[in-house]
Amino acid sequence: MKTGFVQFRPVFGDNAGNLETMTQLISSVDADLLVLPELANTGYAFTSKHELGDIAESFDDSQSLDELQTLAVKKNCSLVVGFAEKAVGSLYNSSALLRPDGSRELYRKLHLFGAENLFFMPGDIPFAVHNIDGARIGMMICFDWFYPESARVLSIKGAQIICHAVNFVLPWGQNAAVFTSIQNRIFMITANRYGAETRGEYSFTFTGESQITNVKGEILAKAKQKEDTAVVTEIDPGDADNKCLNKHNDLFAQRRPEFYGDIGGKATL
Ligand code: ACM
Repeated sequence: MKTGFVQFRPVFGDNAGNLETMTQLISSVDADLLVLPELANTGYAFTSKHELGDIAESFDDSQSLDELQTLAVKKNCSLVVGFAEKAVGSLYNSSALLRPDGSRELYRKLHLFGAENLFFMPGDIPFAVHNIDGARIGMMICFDWFYPESARVLSIKGAQIICHAVNFVLPWGQNAAVFTSIQNRIFMITANRYGAETRGEYSFTFTGESQITNVKGEILAKAKQKEDTAVVTEIDPGDADNKCLNKHNDLFAQRRPEFYGDIGGKATL
C-alpha cells in the first residue's frame, strides 16, 4: 500500500491559496493514502472565536473538503486532512477522512493545546477505526499524542495506521511517534506543517520534519524542517496485526488490564 504525507506552510486565512498548494502537492504523487496537517485549510493562530467562526466550515458542506474529495476521487486516494469545523453552536479542530468512493468520516480533536482551548470546543466523538481500501486507519490530531491513551485506544480497536495531522510547536512530537509505533506496533503517519505565525499575543514556530514510522519505530520517510514535501512509502498494513515482539511476548494478548485500575477514570492529582 502506498502511504504518505503532505507537508507545507499554510498561510493564515488564505483558504483558496492553501487548497491550491495542497492540490499541487497531492497531484505530484501517486498514493493510496495521504495525510495532511492539522488546520491545513485555515492556518493555526486564531485570535478570537469570531475570527474562527467566520472561516470554519461545516463537515457536510465545506468547499475545502469538497474540492479535496474531488481530488481524492480523481487520484483514487484516501486523504486525511485537518480543518476548522463549524458545527451547530460549536467550533472544532477536526480531521476528515475523504475516501475515493465519495464517503467521508470525521474526528474532532479531543485534547486541545494552549489557546485552542479559548476558541475550539474539545471533541465529542470517540476514537474510531475506519476501513479504507487496503487498511484500517485511525485519526488523531496533534496534542492528542500527549495522551498515550489516544493511540492505545485506536490500536486496541484495530487501527493499523494512525493518521496524525499535526501543527507541532513542541520539540518532542516526532520522537514520541517513534515510541508510539513501537509500543502499539502500528504505523504512524505524522503530517506536520512548517513556518511561523504571529497573530495577536500568540507566536508559533512549527517544526516540519513530518515522518512515517513502521511498527518497529523505524523512520521510513522524513521531511526537512522547512520544505514543501509530498512523500510516499510502500508499507504492508498487515504488519500491524502481528503484536508479537518475540515468541514469548504477544504485546496485546499479555496486557494486564485487571491491574491497570480505573485508567479511564479521573486522575487523583
Ligand atoms: C498542537 O496541538 N497543535 C500543538
